[in-house]
Amino acid sequence: MIEELKAAALAGGAILKEGFYAPKSVEKKGAIDLLTQYDRAAEEAIVSLLQKRLPGWDLIAEEGSGSDSRSDRRIYIDPIDGTTNFVHGHPFCCVSIGAWEADKAVSGVIYAPILGELYHATRGGGAFCNGQALRVHKADRLDQALLATGFPYGVFEDEQLTRQVNDWLFRALRVSRGVRRCGAAALDLAHLARGVYGGFWEIGLKSWDVAAGVLLIEEAGGQVTTLSGEPFAVESGDGILASNSALHPSLVSLLRD
Ligand code: IPD
Ligand code: CA
Repeated sequence: MIEELKAAALAGGAILKEGFYAPKSVEKKGAIDLLTQYDRAAEEAIVSLLQKRLPGWDLIAEEGSGSDSRSDRRIYIDPIDGTTNFVHGHPFCCVSIGAWEADKAVSGVIYAPILGELYHATRGGGAFCNGQALRVHKADRLDQALLATGFPYGVFEDEQLTRQVNDWLFRALRVSRGVRRCGAAALDLAHLARGVYGGFWEIGLKSWDVAAGVLLIEEAGGQVTTLSGEPFAVESGDGILASNSALHPSLVSLLRD
């Protein structure tokens, strides 16, 4: 199925790339949660290709054009992860498509057309970027690692949430080589798999943001759990903590309230 996921990601990515350099009409799903005609068009292209080529799989897509019969075979689709970046001309945006059977990720593709990066992973088959095998960073201390995080859209309205996000960031800045917030969670996870980041955490992410990235990280030697180190369930809505494995215990302690 990896070839079907790649074909779908390339189709969606072509629309992302066309839209990146074109004028966009911007709608709002929330105070700072944006949507463009290109998110919709990319999703339609991905969904129609997968419906034809992988019948029998539920398609759970961010903009709602999928089909969900609550089966155990589920493909999570983010047609544009990093829509705010996309709208503002920041190149860190991507298509993310991850297939799960029951509670296991089985195949995943992330395509960032402006960066020219096509990631894929299959369970037991490794993780790759443009055909090159990925391995997580070797750091075993936080002061040897670059970290990444993301901020949920809720910070705009929820002061308590902003304080929590800020507190974790403050702690991480005091013990690591630095913390990046590049604005596309799927691509953050891909870059962790690739050895750029030693750790990543975020709360409030959706299944389609993380479904593919989780497998990339596991196949590159990393680990993914909840913030407290419990097993991560893709549809739970729990916070996610990902690392190169060696840093996982230190990150769990860092984020503990
Ligand atoms: C968002 C991005 C961002 C993260 C947000 C997500 P979207 O996804 O992944 O990095 O911080 O929480 O919602 O809205 O661009 O698909
Ligand atoms: Ca999106």
